[in-house]
Amino acid sequence: MSNNRRFFIMVGALLLLISVFLGGCSSSKQSSNKQLAIGIVLPTKDEPRWIQDETRFQDALKDTPYAAEILFSQGDPAKEKANVETLLSKGIKVLVLCPHDANAAAASAEAAKKAGVKVISYDRLILNTDAVDYYVTFDSIQVGQQQGQYLVNHATGKGNPLYLYAGALSDNNSFLFFQGAWEVLQPKIADGTFVIANSDKAVALKDKKNLSREEMASIIGQITTNWDFNTAKNLAQANLAKASKNLKGNVYILAPNDGTARSIADTFAADPDITKYVITGQDAEKPSIQYIIDGKQSMTVFKDVRILVKDAINVALTYLKNGTPEATKTYNNGVKDVPSKPSPVQVVDKSNVKKVLIDSGYYKESDFTWPK
Ligand code: BGC
Repeated sequence: MSNNRRFFIMVGALLLLISVFLGGCSSSKQSSNKQLAIGIVLPTKDEPRWIQDETRFQDALKDTPYAAEILFSQGDPAKEKANVETLLSKGIKVLVLCPHDANAAAASAEAAKKAGVKVISYDRLILNTDAVDYYVTFDSIQVGQQQGQYLVNHATGKGNPLYLYAGALSDNNSFLFFQGAWEVLQPKIADGTFVIANSDKAVALKDKKNLSREEMASIIGQITTNWDFNTAKNLAQANLAKASKNLKGNVYILAPNDGTARSIADTFAADPDITKYVITGQDAEKPSIQYIIDGKQSMTVFKDVRILVKDAINVALTYLKNGTPEATKTYNNGVKDVPSKPSPVQVVDKSNVKKVLIDSGYYKESDFTWPK
């Protein structure tokens, strides 16, 4: 290489370094210039679902004039409360809170209200307090309906074993998901298409379409996964150990979300007396999309987190401008009808996974292993 060429390469590399350095400085300065106005508290980093929310928030917040801080509570209401207090002490004006425990979170909402901070309940409703200003959510009853309908659509004949699983009793969504699923499944249980395999409380209520909250709680208490993979696996194992042979073979499984669906699916797949299963899910978590591609999970309910995040930011910005966010519906949280504008959800299975999640740019094709 000639000396001249070497010189130009060195100058070029130096210029590149300087521009990267300056670029880095200006963007970090820009973000530090933004005023911290929005505090976001998410339930746990242990589930891909909430990492999705964190990533999408980070993407969307770049375009707002305000800074935000995101903290995780790791499934611990005390940590959640401490997170809220930290954000309040930093002077936030709007709190976006996804509660781990709907009732315990009321104290955090009240502390925020006392500090003059607006409270947006994010994805999960905070219960039994008037300190919630708005509820940003998907249509969670529709989530359950789509799960139930998928099982109904894939069942033929009578006497099909049906295994029911639900989320945590401390999460109001668990009730909404179960309510939606039950509305669709109950007539098909009553007419003998399905036989409930793992809940005598559900069997006792099989002729009742509209269940009270207490009735739902009694069923959910028997079939709860607590949104925990291990609890889900242990419960599925216990259910299978108890089930007679006529409750095995070709079975149907209502699993409340993707994380628990993967645990439950693996457990059923390992039972030699299970010949085939149809299992639901929700969240379109990447590991479950791979399970769907591989035929190990039947479906998921896709909740486009970009929409939820955009809704939350829009509501926050409206409050920061002293406006009133648009609402199409209210959700009663025990003491208040909380305004909301729920977003629709969509079934994804093997037949449309590419179209809905890859062609739309939600995920990259290279994130998954596809059949050759
Ligand atoms: C959310 C689901 C999530 C579950 C467990 C629910 O409240 O709506 O998307 O899978 O919690 O974290």
